[in-house]
Order: sequence, then C-alpha cells, then structure tokens
Amino acid sequence: MTDEPHGLDRGLTNYGDQDFARFLRRSFARSMGLSPGLLGKPVVGIAMTPSGFNNCHRGMPELVEAVSRGVLAAGALPLAFPTVSLGEVFLNPTSMMYRNLMAMDTEEMIQAQPMDAVVLIGGCDKTVPAQLMGAASAGLPAIQVVTGPMSTGRHNGQRLGACTDCRGFWAKYRAGTVDAEEIAVVEGRLSVTAGTCAVMGTASTMACIAEALGMSLPGTAAIPAVHSDRLVAAEETGRAAVRLIETKITPRRVITEKSVENAVRVLMALSGSTNAIVHLNAIAGRLGIRIPYARFNAISDATPVLVDLKPVGEGYMEDFHAAGGMGALLRELRPLLHLDTVDVEGRTLAERLDEPAGWVDRRVIRAFDDPVSPVGGLVALSGSLAPDGAIFKRAAATPALFESEGRAVVFTGLEDLSARIDDPDLDVEPGDVLVLQNAGPHAAGMPEAGYLPIPKKLAQAGVKDMVRISDARMSGTAFGSIVLHVAPEAAIGGPLAAVRDGDRIRLSIRDKRIDLLVAPEEIARRLDGFRPPPAPARGYKALYRRTVTQAPEGCDFDFLMGTGEPG
Ligand code: FES
Repeated sequence: MTDEPHGLDRGLTNYGDQDFARFLRRSFARSMGLSPGLLGKPVVGIAMTPSGFNNCHRGMPELVEAVSRGVLAAGALPLAFPTVSLGEVFLNPTSMMYRNLMAMDTEEMIQAQPMDAVVLIGGCDKTVPAQLMGAASAGLPAIQVVTGPMSTGRHNGQRLGACTDCRGFWAKYRAGTVDAEEIAVVEGRLSVTAGTCAVMGTASTMACIAEALGMSLPGTAAIPAVHSDRLVAAEETGRAAVRLIETKITPRRVITEKSVENAVRVLMALSGSTNAIVHLNAIAGRLGIRIPYARFNAISDATPVLVDLKPVGEGYMEDFHAAGGMGALLRELRPLLHLDTVDVEGRTLAERLDEPAGWVDRRVIRAFDDPVSPVGGLVALSGSLAPDGAIFKRAAATPALFESEGRAVVFTGLEDLSARIDDPDLDVEPGDVLVLQNAGPHAAGMPEAGYLPIPKKLAQAGVKDMVRISDARMSGTAFGSIVLHVAPEAAIGGPLAAVRDGDRIRLSIRDKRIDLLVAPEEIARRLDGFRPPPAPARGYKALYRRTVTQAPEGCDFDFLMGTGEPG
C-alpha cells in the first residue's frame, strides 16, 4: 500500500477536524461489530442491487455473501451498499428512464464512500450498463459480476424461457391459437428460477459485453444464476477486487476504443440485443469514446453470427454456458479482435485466448467458417427518415421484407397505438408499414414499444411480420422486421414527426437506408412550426427531458458524457 489514505480513512467527512472525523467514523463502524483489526484493512465496496421489485436479482444476498467471502479471504474488508435497482417489468413508464439515475447513484456512492475498489453486482437489463457508466466516471478500480441467466422451464414437453417464449405464446393467444386457460398455465412456467431472462436478450448481451470489454472475470458472463459456479465466480471476483487495489487498474484502462470495438464484434457474433448499442455508446461515451455508425456497419458486415440462441436461433443461455461460453466465442473471433486490450486482471486478451480451449458444442457456438450467418446480426440505417441513424436487427427480421416499400399507417404516440391497433376498422393491409411517433427519449423515455403488435385482424389472418418503424427501443428478447432508435426522434422535430398516413416508406437493408418518399420541401412544410410536447415541470423527469441525448449518443445525460474519470 502507498501512504495515501486507504480504507475507511479515505474521503473523511468534513467537520473541519480530520482527526475527529476519523475517530468518529471508526467509532461508528465499530457499532457494526467490526474489530479494530478489520477497520485498518483496505475496503472493497460492493454495489448491491437487491429489490422486491427486481426478480432478476433474487440471488443477490448469496452473491453478496460470496463476494464478501472472497474479499475477506484476500485480506480486505468488504462493505456492501445499496444503490437504485431496476427491475425491467416493474417500472413505469420504462426502466430506460431510470438507467441514468442508477448510473449517477452508482458513481456518486462510489466516490462519496470510503472504498479502495468496488465490485458491481447487477443483472437485469439496465443495471449492468448503469453500473459500468457510473464506475467509468467514478474512476476507482472496479469489477463487474452479474447475477446470471435463468434456467428454462417446461410446458407440455416444450422448453420455455423468458422472454422470447413469453412473446411467442402471447402472439398465439392474440391470434386465437392459445386459449385463456393455457396462457394462464404458461404464465407460471416462463420464469422459473432466479436470474435474468434466459435468452440472448439485453441482460445476457450486456453480461457478455462486460466480459468482452474486460470488466468481468473470464468465463463468468453466462453461468446460470442458480449454478454453484456462479457463487464461485462471485467469490473469485471478490479476490480479484482486492488485487485491483494493488494494480490500480481503473475502467479507463480497460474500456478503450479497442475493447469497445471488440465488444461490438461480440455483439454482432451473438446477434445480441439492439439495446446494447445504446448502452455501449453510453458506457464508451463516459470515457469520450465514440464508435460512429459507419464503423459499426463495417464491423457488422465483417463479423459472422456464430451463436445460435433465441430470440434469433434455438438455444438458451444455459446452453451457451455449457457449450463453452464467451471463451469459445472469443477464440472463434480471434482473427478479428484487438488482442492487446487489457482486462481487470491486467491480462491481455491474447494471453487469455492462449490458454487451452475446452470442449465446444458446435450446435450452439459455431466455428468461424460455419457461421449461422456470414454477417453480423445488427445494422445501422440512415436516410431521409432517420438522418442521424436508426437500428435494424437483420438477424431477427424477415428477409423477404429487407427490400420493401409500403404505405405508412401512423400512430402519433403510445396512447394512440394502444387505442387503435386492434380496431377492426383500422385501415391497414399486410404490406403496410406501421409507424410509431413520439416514443423516443425526450417524448417517452424511449420505452421498448418498437415491437408494435401486428394489428389483431391481420394477426388472425395469419400475418406474422410487417415493417415497423419508431424512435423507441425493442426488447432484446423480441424479433421482427423492426426499425428502431430513429434519430432525431419525432419529439424534437425529426422527420419521423412529418410522416402521415398514406405516405410511402422504403426500407433497403442492402443500401442500409430508410427513406420517407416525400419531397424534402413537403417534409419541411409539415415540420414548419413544429412544437415539442410539453415538458415535465419538476423533479428527475424534468432533468431527464432537459439533458437526455439521442440514441446515437447513448441516451446519456449531456452533462455526464465524455468527461471520464476525474484527474
Ligand atoms: Fe430482468 Fe429480463 S426482466 S433480465
């Protein structure tokens, strides 16, 4: 250790008398039953996120205990502290609105409390990005461990996992092929263990991205939540956090332009969640790193999809883990990766991948020359409808719709959508393009509303997919020919706000374009005198509206971006 204050002596409370502040802090710490010997040790903070409103973090107490065990065994004092926890389906209007709040909470509590390193325990969709954003800005050595994915359930002999199968069954229920009695039974069979969604949704994608960045221990992203190895991983993470105090490896050393590019490669090869693009942009943006959409597309076009998991393919996260997990995937991608990136252990990616490879299940993790698809799962679009970009998950879409043109059927907002989508009198045909306005970051906090339901009358007629366009996001567990993250969003006067019923819209995945086939002068005329929707007057929502950026900037707050760690 250096002579700098460490452990509980860091950042003393300001009473104007440092010795008194130290005396008082130790006295109060002893009220927690900590021995004087332990009080002199370095401190590892554990950012924990249990919540009665977060089923995905049900295993948190065991994980905190395991991390603490590792920290103690390595000779430091573990002190767990709570932060905001975001349970995806329990938040209104959308968890996305609170990711930045959690990131600020995490950053500020890491900085304000006396710790030498921090372990971040998250899992559900927004929690891992929030923790990585906060830790990147806090500038203290940090390491991530995730709660891990759920294991699958069974229904009439079929494996079920949240939440791709939730959507599949709900679509059948809407189409009338599953009745009310069966859907009630299925409700209890989709999410049957602790942990995050069982497919390659946003939570699983972000867990893999954290490992690809080098922010979590190798091989830990996909271990099922209820597997004993998950607790071993937590204990090892505690030990690693103590080593970080010596090596002083901060997120800035780990999250670099090269490691972010590696993470984009992994995202493509996983056919991961579209949400991960927004989150990765936000994490990288904290350190002043930007991956332009052109670079993103270049990576996508040169990276094969190698992992065969739902929502795009067949398997579940437990299969990915058993198949060899991230180690196996990274070895296949090796020729495309920057190998001189450094992880939280101070090891280069080359050193990690030089270790002996284990057995790989090629049904789940394909060899590089036998891909699921020769190109990456996601692509960025531009065009007159989205001058600053949009995202399309080609791996989860219908190829027959890749080059298509259709008539716009416009919904002006979320309420309009839910009021009219199932109206039998809705003027909609199978070849139409469904357009949702005012669901972007400013208008609505960017909810996962981009997966517009197929209008009931078309669903009942057997229509399975249509082109759908919005400034919203889509759940990582969803699928369809869906254009998302349109920027600028409608609520700040983007061209999306100018679309009217009956306009023609052209999608071209070959040209990576999404165009409103209306003359520019007419678009300008329609947007003339545009007025944004009224802003909330007070509180966090007012701050959000004033400072949230668009999707290409990660929807971070403008005043939190690009500054990186202090000093
Ligand atoms: Fe938490 Fe899906 S709801 S990961």
